[in-house]
Amino acid sequence: MAVLNITDDNRKLTDPAEIRDYLQGIGLDYEQWEPSHPLAEDATPEEVLEAYSVEIETLKQAGGYVTADVINITPDTPNLDAMLNKFNREHWHDEDEVRFIIAGHGLFHINPKNGGPVVGIEVGPGDLLVVPRGTYHWFDLCGDRRVRAIRLFQDPAGWTPHYTGSSKEQGYVPLCFGPAFVTA
Ligand SMILES: [Fe+2]
Repeated sequence: MAVLNITDDNRKLTDPAEIRDYLQGIGLDYEQWEPSHPLAEDATPEEVLEAYSVEIETLKQAGGYVTADVINITPDTPNLDAMLNKFNREHWHDEDEVRFIIAGHGLFHINPKNGGPVVGIEVGPGDLLVVPRGTYHWFDLCGDRRVRAIRLFQDPAGWTPHYTGSSKEQGYVPLCFGPAFVTA
């Protein structure tokens, strides 16, 4: 379940429809997906992709994505901090960033081009987020330092981040405040 934080306005949204509408207003797509059948925690990437094959196919058609894979990040992932440091500064890329969360959590910050306030969007299991190409944003893991997600790409080679060098991310604390972390 997603949580949207607009720190500058002291606003927090947890209703999925409100989150979807707000993100749509700044050009991002947000959806919630259900698997076509229950998935075991240790489901293979193939099983994960199969369980969401209808949604993936629909999204591929709509967005011109040609490949889908499953990424798995845990606290034990080698060179985790070096990898995260590539994405936790404000950047953009030439491709959409498409993530559907299977397990764990992630925290995206979006710096809208329309001049609106920076938005923090925490995503968890069942959440799909599409960050369009050219969007200024940055990414952090949450306290569980775990995320398993389906990714879709327009170019099978993937993308490389372009940094804005704004240091905008330094004004926002990369902490997650969703239900899973309030009780932790
Ligand atoms: Fe990115």
